[in-house]
This record gives sequence, structure tokens and C-alpha cells, in this order.
Amino acid sequence: MQIFKTVESLNGYLDGCRERAQSVALVPTMGGLHEGHLSLINKAKECADVVVVSLFVNPTQFASGEDFEQYPQSPGEDIENLQQRQVDALFMPQIADIYPQSQESDYDVGELGQILCGISRPTHFKGVAQVVARFFDIVKPDIAVFGEKDYQQLTIIRELAKRKYNTIKIASVPIIREPDGLAMSTRNNYLSVKERARAPLFYKALREAREELESGADIALAAKRALAALSKSFVVDYVEILDANTLTEITHKSEEIIIISAVRLGGARLIDNIVFRRANV
Ligand code: PAF
Repeated sequence: MQIFKTVESLNGYLDGCRERAQSVALVPTMGGLHEGHLSLINKAKECADVVVVSLFVNPTQFASGEDFEQYPQSPGEDIENLQQRQVDALFMPQIADIYPQSQESDYDVGELGQILCGISRPTHFKGVAQVVARFFDIVKPDIAVFGEKDYQQLTIIRELAKRKYNTIKIASVPIIREPDGLAMSTRNNYLSVKERARAPLFYKALREAREELESGADIALAAKRALAALSKSFVVDYVEILDANTLTEITHKSEEIIIISAVRLGGARLIDNIVFRRANV
């Protein structure tokens, strides 16, 4: 694996790939890699000749008072993991490479950035879109791979690609879970032993909501019950049942349903979701 710390050196490498007509997949990460990230890399390897992983903790997607400074970083371990997975290139830029002259561009992500997680994190998705656009401009990948755990992020990036990067294919990978059901996340590191033991109740409540919907419960009632169940163990940011394609209210046209939620447990903010095809709902 080759490691690049500047845009110029990475571009030199990518020019060589293009001369050899190799397709390029990009997997953007903030490091703290776990099996969830590694599944993105496996997908990228299936889809392209060359896999570029970026590792950059993006300041613009953290609001002040959020966990930018504490965000778990383990570059040594990450590099070892990526080498083992035979990633071709690792891009580890500095803030000045990504934000030269601290350029302010307009990454208005519209209504999609203001709902769900956007209510408590109103600037978050603008920062995500900004950095992803920057990586798309630098790497110009044929395909970019994202996880379905960050479902709202994925939806916003699909929209961004549709609007501005329609040559880049966006691929996604299902959530990877711990054996007890907890969705893997770098932020699970913030949980104490006691909190970690309680955390699987998050996915359990979402699963129960799905079962209720599938056995014919009304959507509003299932959402209300999920909120009540989650509130026993967590501080609930939101839990909603929506059209998975648009993240808006379910209509007769909705084909897939998402149960999507964010909760707080001690110092950690956890997100999770379940997407399923509409049958009886
Ligand atoms: O999902 C993440 O880890 C980040 O939001 C991303 C896409 C790497 C942008 O910083």
C-alpha cells in the first residue's frame, strides 16, 4: 500500500492508474477503522481495479462542543488493517490540503440536511457534503463507497452526486453489527462497560418496531411505541418511520420503509436504522 500525504503526490499516482485504464474506487473515512469500514473496502475491491482509502477527521462536520478533539484516532492500527486488506493507496491529507485558503463554498444540502440528525446537528451535513465534494474533486473516482448506518448521509451524498458528480457511482454497504446487534461505530468507544451492555437495546427496539409494522400496526402507533421503548434506556434524539428512498412520509408509492433513530447513551450519540421492503405495512 502506498501512503500519500499531499494532493500532488496522490494525483501523480492516480494519473498512472488512469494511463493504465484502471478504474478507481474511493472509500472516505475518518479513521478509527472497524469491520464496518473494512466491509466498505471489500465492496470497493469488488467494484474497481484500484482502491483509495482516505483518512481525514473533517473539522467542518463537527459543531463546536461536539467530539472533534476526542474523535478516536488510531492511525498506526488503521494503516496495518488497510495493508492487510491490500488497499492500494491511503490518502492522509492535512487540513490545508482539503481546505486551501479556508475556502467557503456553498454546500447547501437543502431540506434533507435539516431533518432527523440535522435538527440537533444543523451544520453537520453541509460539512460532510463539503469534504466529500472535495475528495471527489481530488480523486475523481469512478465509484465511491459509503455505509448504510449513516443513512441520511448516504441519501445526501447520492443527491450531491446526482447534482454535481453524475459520473461517480455511489455504492453502499449494509450495517455491520456486533454479535449482540449493536451497529459497529467508532463512537462505540465512548461507551462505558455498563453503557455498552445496555446499547443493544437500541437495535432491539427498532427490530420490534419492524415486527409490529409487519404484523399490521399503524405507522404512527409503531413510532410511538418505539419512542416509549427507547426512552426507557436512552435519551432519544428522534425515532421516525419514513419512506427509505426520500426520507419523507410514507405514501402509497413508498416501496421501502426505514425505521431510523438517534439516541444518546452517556457520552455517546448512537445512530441506527432498519430498511425493509413494504409488504403489509
Ligand atoms: O462517514 C464518515 O466517516 C464521514 O462522514 C465521511 C463520509 C468520511 C466524511 O468525512
